[in-house]
Amino acid sequence: MTPLKNIDGRLMYLPNNDEKSAVFVDFENLRLLHRIKDGAKDQELSRAVGLKKQRNLKILDATAGFGKDAFFLASLGCEVRLLERDPIMFRLLEDGFIRARKSSCRRVVECIERMSLYEGDFLHTNLQNGIWDTVYLDPMFPKAKKSALVKKDMQVLQTLLLDDDSSEQMIMHALRYAISRVVVKRRKSSPLLSEYLPDIQYSGSSNRFDVYLSCAK
Ligand SMILES: C[S@@+](CC[C@H](N)C(=O)[O-])C[C@H]1O[C@@H](n2cnc3c(N)ncnc32)[C@H](O)[C@@H]1O
Repeated sequence: MTPLKNIDGRLMYLPNNDEKSAVFVDFENLRLLHRIKDGAKDQELSRAVGLKKQRNLKILDATAGFGKDAFFLASLGCEVRLLERDPIMFRLLEDGFIRARKSSCRRVVECIERMSLYEGDFLHTNLQNGIWDTVYLDPMFPKAKKSALVKKDMQVLQTLLLDDDSSEQMIMHALRYAISRVVVKRRKSSPLLSEYLPDIQYSGSSNRFDVYLSCAK
């Protein structure tokens, strides 16, 4: 039986058919809207992608997930292409996009207009080259010892998705596409994703952004 169910006009993923743990993509979520209004917690992310130097960036978010980081970047005026390889996650995103386009909140509609969604594995998808200023990677974090540290949607994602050991390969692949830089999101205390040292690092309270400059490679 499919773990996807339409509840109150939203497509939801129900792990073990349990409605209490249902998750869905929600660009009208108040916490997300507060995040884009406040911006303070995300200064490292906006610096890491290169927004201090250049406006109107074109960003490829090659690991879309729930699309929250992409939505935040779109709220800052970036044009963001989201790529997601997991078919269930992709369908949740598609449904989130449909609802966001019809939102009564003008800000949500403005952001979603700057975002485009594609299904596919970044490592095996033919993408247009020479147009992405920044490629953003947020591969799955390793499972946390204390699950309370991981938000509910991310916990569900960890059960839904396969373990992945291709992350290192992704940096090299991303550098072929990025005109300016590749940004990798990590937990603050996590090891580097690759044996290559980043050119710049930005650390926030819980996350770290490792930046690999294209011209430096
Ligand atoms: C941690 S989540 C990303 C969360 C996202 N940054 C957000 O703000 O919601 C990682 C996502 O990347 C996807 N992913 C991992 N490797 C991928 C690949 N090679 N190509 C496309 N998507 C991939 C996974 O399916 C998962 O949905």
